[in-house]
Amino acid sequence: MRIPPEKIEEIRSANDIVDVISQHVRLKKRGKNFVGLCPFHQEKTPSFTVSSEKQMYHCFGCSKGGNIITFVMEFEKVSFTEAVRSLAEKAGIVISFTEVDQERQNETEALYNACRFAGLHFHTNLTKTDEGRSALEYFHQRGFSDETIRVFGLGYSLNSWDGFVLRAREEGLDRADLLKAGLIRVREDGTDYDYFRGRAMFPIFSTTGRVVGFGARKLRDDDPLGKYINSPETPIYNKSRVLFGLFHSKDAVRAQDNALMVEGYADLISLYQAGIQNVVASSGTALTEEQVQLISRYGKKLTLVYDADSAGSNATLRGMDIAFAQDLDVSIVELPEGEDPDSFIRKSGGKEFQKLLDRGMSFIDFKARQFLRTGSFATPEGKAQAVRSIVQSIAKMKDELKRNFYIKEVATKYDIYESVLYRELEKWTGERNRTGSFGAPRSDGPQRPDSNQNNVSSSVAEKKRTPVAERDLLKLVLEHPKEMLEFIFSHIAITDITDPQIRKIVEFLLSRFDERGPGEVTEIVGEITDPALKSIVTDSVMSRYELSKQWESSEGEIEVADPWMVARDAIVDMKKRGLEFQIEENRRALKDVSERGIDVQPFVLRHQELSKQLDDLKSGALFKST
Ligand code: CTP
Ligand code: MN
Repeated sequence: MRIPPEKIEEIRSANDIVDVISQHVRLKKRGKNFVGLCPFHQEKTPSFTVSSEKQMYHCFGCSKGGNIITFVMEFEKVSFTEAVRSLAEKAGIVISFTEVDQERQNETEALYNACRFAGLHFHTNLTKTDEGRSALEYFHQRGFSDETIRVFGLGYSLNSWDGFVLRAREEGLDRADLLKAGLIRVREDGTDYDYFRGRAMFPIFSTTGRVVGFGARKLRDDDPLGKYINSPETPIYNKSRVLFGLFHSKDAVRAQDNALMVEGYADLISLYQAGIQNVVASSGTALTEEQVQLISRYGKKLTLVYDADSAGSNATLRGMDIAFAQDLDVSIVELPEGEDPDSFIRKSGGKEFQKLLDRGMSFIDFKARQFLRTGSFATPEGKAQAVRSIVQSIAKMKDELKRNFYIKEVATKYDIYESVLYRELEKWTGERNRTGSFGAPRSDGPQRPDSNQNNVSSSVAEKKRTPVAERDLLKLVLEHPKEMLEFIFSHIAITDITDPQIRKIVEFLLSRFDERGPGEVTEIVGEITDPALKSIVTDSVMSRYELSKQWESSEGEIEVADPWMVARDAIVDMKKRGLEFQIEENRRALKDVSERGIDVQPFVLRHQELSKQLDDLKSGALFKST
């Protein structure tokens, strides 16, 4: 479904960002803005800032930011289209869909409907029929309370070929939908039969709480099929994109910033019932990238809980690397031999399980242990192999700061030179040594007064490297595109911007300006898809400090500076940096040339020319006449 851009704009501007966010976050007015506790990370003092004037938000703690649509997407965890639809509804705007889209919409709705009906049917079988009583007893025996059974919508499929088929027919459900939803099958003679028969039913929910499929556990010895049978993939059940239990656990995952990963349906439910609710289940299949991505929307850490057998640890190793690639932190909890989380909880209880969690190990220790177990850690070759395997995992991490951190840890733990580890790391990242000091982050360059202290996210680290003038420039062109784009870029070139991300944003602004005019910053932030760039934009526009530190008055109050003055200063500063860089390069060349006995005069002349330009700049010649 595609909503035309004008419609999106209409819907966006029909809603006030402060109204919408206030429904979820307690906002207090502070100056021109509103502040509250950030809904996207845990904090005690409010750094989540909403501007009514700019129709944008930005968190100075976790650097998430955007416009009203982004907020609904992030908060409700819905797609762009769903967010726009819900905002349209709030504002009473009707979106008319094209016929084709309408049909597709109806088809998925029909499948959801069929699954919901099936879920209710199975639940009623379990709780209200004689035949269901033994299944109910089975659940009770497993330790599931009636409340748990209700919360997870557990059920029972009658031990017959047409229990469901008949009920669905009575209800007037479309046969084609039931087939497509994987609830019934067709015999060769064209008659229908139930797919799930005589089994304990675990409904699988989408992240928004709609039933999309089922896992069905065997209850009878004479049942010839496997321990579990599951719904097939359907248009509403994409197995690589759904995680069992996430609908129930997402709030806890968000609150603890950590998701526990277990294998089985019963494992998840037992943990949840024992009060450990930040848990998701892979349902016995290998973890996919999409699933990890899904988790990363709610929390930054993944705790892999796996059985101690070898299949378990192989799955752990794979899951780990996928998680690193999605920027999640990983720790690993191993259960005693022969136990799964469900059986462990049944024997030892939730408190003991919590103790296991507290003793979770880092992936480094986990990998080292794999090698220790096989005895290969004792030899130098074995140790090298173990370290290589650890470094390979580190190489999967996108965040350079994080890589540096772990390299240091490995170096300390195994008494290996960091440089050796970095050389190994480069083999896997394929990166040249960019900073000259084995990839260690540079911390030179001016630092911004509002840069956040306790958040070591990469964007904050990047910020430290960006010259103040470039950040001022970005703010200027975002807030006054019409005046500033032309003025600034008649004095400097886009290539004078040293920060690659700011350069990308400015490039976008310039081309957008040419194609469609300047646009409001809240529109622009909606058009930028890269979350890192989006965050830089909202951070820039919503800065607590209006512009760089020099514009702060003595009382620490914020003074609204004249943008022209700031622009001139930024231009002069960037030109100055450019000249200083050239002077330094020339000086180096001069030294080299003179050592080799070549004519130095051109370099001396160039030095004089550059120095004069720099002096002129410093004396304010550039803007004397303006
Ligand atoms: N599974 C499956 N099909 C199977 C076996 C397992 O889909 N034939 C999935 C199920 O999601 C199951 C998970 O893999 O929950 C873990 O399997 P297993 O450890 O064998 O089962 P448990 O979850 O321990 O099941 P139970 O406690 O009910 O015996
Ligand atoms: Mn089990």
